[in-house]
Amino acid sequence: MPTLNWIGKEAVIRHHQEVPTRLLDPVPALSCSTGGHDDGNLIVQGDNLHALKALLPRYAGQVKCIYIDPPYNTGNEGWVYNDNVNSPEIRRWLGEVVGKEGETLDRHDRWLCMMYPRLVLLKQFLREDGAIFVSIDDNEVACLRLLMDEVFGVSCFVASNVWQKRYSRENRGAIGDVHEYIVVYAKQPDLFQDVRNRLPIDAKQAAVYKNPNNDPRGRWRGIPMTAQGYRPNQMYEVETPSGKKVQPPEGRCWSTIEAEFLKLKAEGRVYFGKTGTSQPSIIRYLSEVEGFVPWTWWPHEEVGHTDEARKEVQSLFGTQTAFDTPKPTRLLQRVIQIATNPGDLILDSFAGSGTTGHAVLKQNAEDGGNRRFILVEMDEHIARNITAERVRRVAQGYTNAKGERVDGLGGGFQYCRLSAEPLFAPDGQVRGDVTFAQLAEFVWFSETGTGFTATTNSPLLGTHEGRAIYLLYNGILNDLAPDSGNVLTGPVYDALPPHDGPKIIYAAANRMGRRAQREDIIFKQTPYALEG
Ligand SMILES: C[S@@+](CC[C@H](N)C(=O)[O-])C[C@H]1O[C@@H](n2cnc3c(N)ncnc32)[C@H](O)[C@@H]1O
Repeated sequence: MPTLNWIGKEAVIRHHQEVPTRLLDPVPALSCSTGGHDDGNLIVQGDNLHALKALLPRYAGQVKCIYIDPPYNTGNEGWVYNDNVNSPEIRRWLGEVVGKEGETLDRHDRWLCMMYPRLVLLKQFLREDGAIFVSIDDNEVACLRLLMDEVFGVSCFVASNVWQKRYSRENRGAIGDVHEYIVVYAKQPDLFQDVRNRLPIDAKQAAVYKNPNNDPRGRWRGIPMTAQGYRPNQMYEVETPSGKKVQPPEGRCWSTIEAEFLKLKAEGRVYFGKTGTSQPSIIRYLSEVEGFVPWTWWPHEEVGHTDEARKEVQSLFGTQTAFDTPKPTRLLQRVIQIATNPGDLILDSFAGSGTTGHAVLKQNAEDGGNRRFILVEMDEHIARNITAERVRRVAQGYTNAKGERVDGLGGGFQYCRLSAEPLFAPDGQVRGDVTFAQLAEFVWFSETGTGFTATTNSPLLGTHEGRAIYLLYNGILNDLAPDSGNVLTGPVYDALPPHDGPKIIYAAANRMGRRAQREDIIFKQTPYALEG
């Protein structure tokens, strides 16, 4: 398989492992709740490399749909490559703005170095039936496809959708540029095909279904009963209600065998035109239309365009300059409709103006769902004043630019920052203020590779593949000294919830002696067994 090489690749291939695990620090003053709860939604302010690492212990393997809209590397965006990668060829880029191609011939290398570790982390969030949708344009689509092939697997490619972002002609280039791509990869494409949704038909598509004969079964349309080619058992004569006899048109046959045709006719599902003299059509009722299999052409009439997106943000904030590059809410709703069901989790780690959060709340309001979202935005001003503020207004209601009151869709979110200090101090010790719940997530993720979803009021975190996983930390058993029960001793062990089978026990020390082996205990010493 051809692979892509670039300056700095060697240095970033394992970079995701070197990124320290930080904690999510909730900021109640910037959070939003409607009816007293945040519905499990999160907005995280911080570089997504660190945010994704911090989110993994809770959400690994749980996200149904990832949507990202990273910098396209157009040369005009002025994004900054700031990952702390310790390699000579990369160190000179750090903190430098990535500008016009003429100034920085290595801007594709930087973009690839930025994207690689983030994609590797993102992959770990996907459920087995999940998929990732990536917005991109022609600046990096070729590199992105090769990168995605490498990180997700060539066989995981699903589609490269073309979004018609403009409706007016673009005359600046030799050939006008009116589209972007939304590239889709699935963890397991066959599974994704089974679970992805068809798209509901819209009013324009439904208008084709009429009821000229007042059929009690409702609106319908006739599908000509012919097919290309010659199949002997589909070449029979058909008698119309007027008595006229018809054959398939030249070069075609009927689309069904005679027995099936007679059955459909007996059910009143064949139409011969107003006068009963026309070629037969098979009646398809609107009520039977399951929706459409999504296709790769996403025209602006269906999913909006960039102008619509800017006006949406303008209407929400009453100013033209709130955010330069939003996507239309309808575009994100299309992604959500295809890839998710009520109850699913959606992650956007380049959140910008928060369109993904808006679209999730809108889709929930429309179909009664309880989908949740996680948004990550690095820029503090944007995260606080645009991303969070937009979702807050959409959830709670607002007055738009025309002075009209727009009702809230409901929902809320918890706003978090990343802790300045990582979970582990430089000497390898767990930081003093880390709670039992925070370390429990990390322990569970390290052992299982999956996100920790249980409640954490017990030293027994759960069982995974037949093994029970325990954590003794922060005196979870309170009274059983020594060291408030953080050391595994006989009495401490006897106080643990039992498990019949192998037990992995994380504790500060093991004073069980030979009994540990008899009890099928695998002891792991905190923090050393956890670091990294
Ligand atoms: C193209 S915009 C996304 C627009 C978004 N889809 C919308 O509809 O508003 C990209 C966003 O990603 C943010 N970003 C860039 N690098 C990031 C990083 N390393 N971590 C988190 N956010 C980042 C930028 O600040 C910007 O707001």
